Amino acid sequence: MRVLVTGAGGFVGPHLRRALQATGAEVFGLGPHPIPGEVDLLVDVTDTKATAEAVAKVKPDAVVHLAGLSSVSECGKEPMKAFQINSGGALSVVQAVLALKAPCRVLLVSSGEVYGAAAGPAPIDEGLLPDPMNVYGATKRAAEIIALQHRYQGLDVIIARPFNHIGPGQTPTFVLPSFAQQVTRVPRGGQVTLEVGNLSAVRDFSHVEDIVEAYVLLLRQGKGGEVYNLGSGVGRSIESMLQLLVARSGREVTVKVDPKRLRPVEIPTLVGNVEKLKALGWKPTRSVDQALSAILDEMERRPAP
Ligand code: GDD
Repeated sequence: MRVLVTGAGGFVGPHLRRALQATGAEVFGLGPHPIPGEVDLLVDVTDTKATAEAVAKVKPDAVVHLAGLSSVSECGKEPMKAFQINSGGALSVVQAVLALKAPCRVLLVSSGEVYGAAAGPAPIDEGLLPDPMNVYGATKRAAEIIALQHRYQGLDVIIARPFNHIGPGQTPTFVLPSFAQQVTRVPRGGQVTLEVGNLSAVRDFSHVEDIVEAYVLLLRQGKGGEVYNLGSGVGRSIESMLQLLVARSGREVTVKVDPKRLRPVEIPTLVGNVEKLKALGWKPTRSVDQALSAILDEMERRPAP
């Protein structure tokens, strides 16, 4: 199976490449920046012509569309750029695949963020009508609509809605690598003041390796035209994740709220019901603790900024 992965140089791309290769797939990574071993085709998905040429050259059996601006706050700061990359990029990819005129499944990686205001305290299932509350969620919902519309032109597409996933390779733009980076600025046994945002938000955290295994499964066994939540089904407050991280770090931490880290709009609780995915045979096998240890190890090894 020849699989083209967009956003191959990002956080998830390298994990997905290895998971696909473990199943015998041949992987072609596409991305806008040269990253040896990860990006084989230097293409920005907002460049429709270059994307079509790359897809035509690879002739994939499947495409996993990961490429996008994945930070909620960065999308809020640059909405037009966010729509161009996240929604326009999806349009480039699905049109390039249709132009192949050959069987090729697209797995569009959206986000649990699309549920927005529709999310309540209970785990959300795929039947709930999305109601995005921020630019990021809206760009992903638009990408879903674009992809699903193309199924009436013959596209075989599946929508993945992952909730928060963590592990090595994620940048400090995101909450846990940010906390880990700050904590590891002092040696073990030391004291550190940690700047934080909203600790009361509740999110559904998974190990990135479990999420990429779900992508591989969906490519092979997902039902065309369907939407699947990907997550743990368990809600954890950011505060409880911080406590787990601090306990593992061996440092004394004082917490200080940095107003710049608070979001203008915050979804209080975002937890997915993942029974539909589990019915395909998916089962998470890594713990959040393992992911936190890997994030801390990575930050301990990094030279101080
Ligand atoms: N980034 C950040 N930094 N977030 C903080 C901080 C901080 O210092 N303090 C508290 N938070 C809170 C945020 O307000 C949010 O409620 C939660 O921690 C998680 O924030 P992020 O790690 O930035 O991720 P996200 O939830 O906005 O989005 C992630 O999950 C989505 C799926 O649910 C990303 O991975 C998205 O790409 C993904 O689609």
